[in-house]
This record gives sequence, C-alpha cells and structure tokens, in this order.
Amino acid sequence: MKPLTVCVTVCSGLLLLSWSSEGQSNIMKTDFIQAMFEEYDSTLPPNFESNESVKVNVSLYVNSIDSISEQSMDFTMNAFVEQEWCDPRLIFYEMITDEYFELDSRFMVKVWVPDLYFTNEKRADFHSVTVPNKMLHLYNNGCIRYRLRVSLTASCPMNLQKYPMDTQICSLYLQSFAFTRKTIEFLWKVDKAVVTGSSVELPQFTLVDTVTKGTCNENIGGSDFTCIQVDFNLRRNTGFYMIQIYIPTIMIVLLSWVSFWLSIDAVPARISLGILTVLTMTTQKGAAISSLPRVSYVKAIDVWMAVCLAFVFAALLEFAFVNVMQRREQEFDDCSLEWVCEQPTV
Ligand SMILES: *[C@@H]1O[C@H](CO)[C@@H](O)[C@H](O)[C@H]1NC(C)=O
Ligand SMILES: *[C@@H]1O[C@H](CO)[C@@H](O)[C@H](O)[C@H]1NC(C)=O
Repeated sequence: MKPLTVCVTVCSGLLLLSWSSEGQSNIMKTDFIQAMFEEYDSTLPPNFESNESVKVNVSLYVNSIDSISEQSMDFTMNAFVEQEWCDPRLIFYEMITDEYFELDSRFMVKVWVPDLYFTNEKRADFHSVTVPNKMLHLYNNGCIRYRLRVSLTASCPMNLQKYPMDTQICSLYLQSFAFTRKTIEFLWKVDKAVVTGSSVELPQFTLVDTVTKGTCNENIGGSDFTCIQVDFNLRRNTGFYMIQIYIPTIMIVLLSWVSFWLSIDAVPARISLGILTVLTMTTQKGAAISSLPRVSYVKAIDVWMAVCLAFVFAALLEFAFVNVMQRREQEFDDCSLEWVCEQPTV
C-alpha cells in the first residue's frame, strides 16, 4: 500500500511539473504582463480588502550632501530613496520562470506606490534626464522594489551657541501623506538603512554618524501617520575659522601690545596703533558673523571677539592713563625746581 501511495504522489507531481513547464513556454511574457495589469487597479492599495497594513521597507543611499546653510537653516542632499513592499495581487510565482521583471518608467504608473513624502522638505526635485530616474522591479512573489533619485532641501534648525565649535543634527522625516498607520507602515530596512556614498564630503562639516529612528520624535502632520526619521550628525571643521578668524585676531591683540614698548612721548604712534587695532578688531568681528543669521543669543565666537576687543581697547586706555600720569609727574618735577608754581597765579 505504501509504495503505491509514494508512486502516485511522485508520478502526479512529475506530470504536473511537465504540464506546468509546457504551459510556461506557451505563455508570452508580453501578453502575460498586459493581462496581469488588465485586472489590476493602481488606485487601490494592496491591502484594500484586508486589515493588515502594508509594510514598506525604506532605505536611503546618500550620493551627496551639498550645502548646509546657517543663514536659511537648511541642507541640500541628493539621494536614492528605495522602497520595498509586497503587493499580493501581483504574484506570478508559478506562471513565469522569470524571477523578476524590470519595468520601464512609463509602465510604472500602472503600479500602486506608497505616497512617501519628506515632512521637513523645503524644495525637492526628481531627475528626468534623459528619462525619469526611477526603477521598479517586480518580483515573482509580488514584492516590489522601487527606487527614485531625488534632490531635496530640508530644513534643519540649528543651535549656534557653540559656533564655530558646534555639532549639528540635521534630520529627515519620511512620512505617508494620505494613508494612516492602518494602511501603510514605513520601516527602515534592517541592515544598510542609510548608506552614504564614499564621495560624500562637505567643505565645512564632517559627517560623523547617521542614526535611524523608527518613529519621529516630533510627529509632524498628525500622530496617526507612519513616520520614520534619520539624523545626520555633523561636526563643524574648525580649520577655516583657525586660519580666517582665530590667528588674525590673536595677532591683532599682540600688535596692540607693541605700543607698550614705544616711548610715552610717541603720542601719534601709540594713538594710531591703538585706534587701528580697535578698528581692525571691529571689522574682523563683522566679517566673522556675516554668514550667520541674526540670532539673539550669545555665540562662542561673540565671546572670543569681545575678549579680543577688550584687550585691544585696554591697551589704548592704558596709553591714555600712562600719558596723564606722566604729565602730572612732569608738572610735579617742574614745580619742585621752580617754587613759583606753588604761587597762585594772579
Ligand atoms: C479585520 O479586523 C476585524 C477586527 O479586528 C476582524 O474581526 C476581521 O475579521 C478582520 N478582517 C480581515 C479580513 O482580516
Ligand atoms: C522588510 O524587512 C523585513 C525585516 O527584515 C523582512 O522580513 C521583509 O521581507 C522585508 N520586506 C520586503 C518587501 O523586502
């Protein structure tokens, strides 16, 4: 009895296999895909009939971070945004031998895609030279890999209290616009959620770390929408400020001290040295903060500049004080010689 059952199972299996492989060869892929999308409605999400939300695995490949502006408090980046999700209506597992189809960008409008948007975006662009920079792969298990190339400027509120020795955290919030958590859920891809290209190099900052968070700290646009967040931790490079601000101001302070070695009688030399250094300090201060927004708190650079200005100003005051003291002493010396001084002048 037993061998018979085995034979029946195996034989019917073989028969089925030969039949199905024969069937496959008969189906034209073109006809198949046309037929598949005949029934398909791209305006309805995959889970329209069920309760389960669509899990979308999101990953980001950062090509470049171009500029970080303190003035407008934003940053510009160029990235590939990749989304992966499964649409059970598109399973073609045993109908075609192909593992996946690569669809043309003109065909993509026929497929439902998640309505991802960047909450803190100010401006964003797709790229469409020479064709829209989109990729859509449809796998035989109904899963879809969808990749877009975007350039976007996103707001990044900065605290400049430690400027220019500060670190900034610029975040990007990804959220679904129209569908609540009931329909769509975004998740960061488990490994390599955010990859930065090797050519990501910023003139003023070093990208220290990227941190992905499954939920947004501040859920912008309502709490029921799925929202994921990535933080870019950026450390400011101080080399520029060393060369352009710190070393020149140190030298100006040292220059103002030259006046201490000059004779008290060299009044024009000492006065002009004092005034010149004070004025240069003021100009330097203006140049140092010209690229910053007009925030009302005190920044580290302000403290530095104020101390330098105080030193330079003190050197000028010192001369005024010394000059007065010297003249008084001279008067006293003159009087000790000529007793007439003591007499009240009539
Ligand atoms: C949807 O959820 C409700 C309540 O949780 C449940 O009773 C129902 O069977 C679910 N329907 C489907 C299609 O899963
Ligand atoms: C999304 O990620 C989860 C966890 O790694 C994985 O189980 C699932 O298959 C992924 N979905 C897609 C469509 O790749």
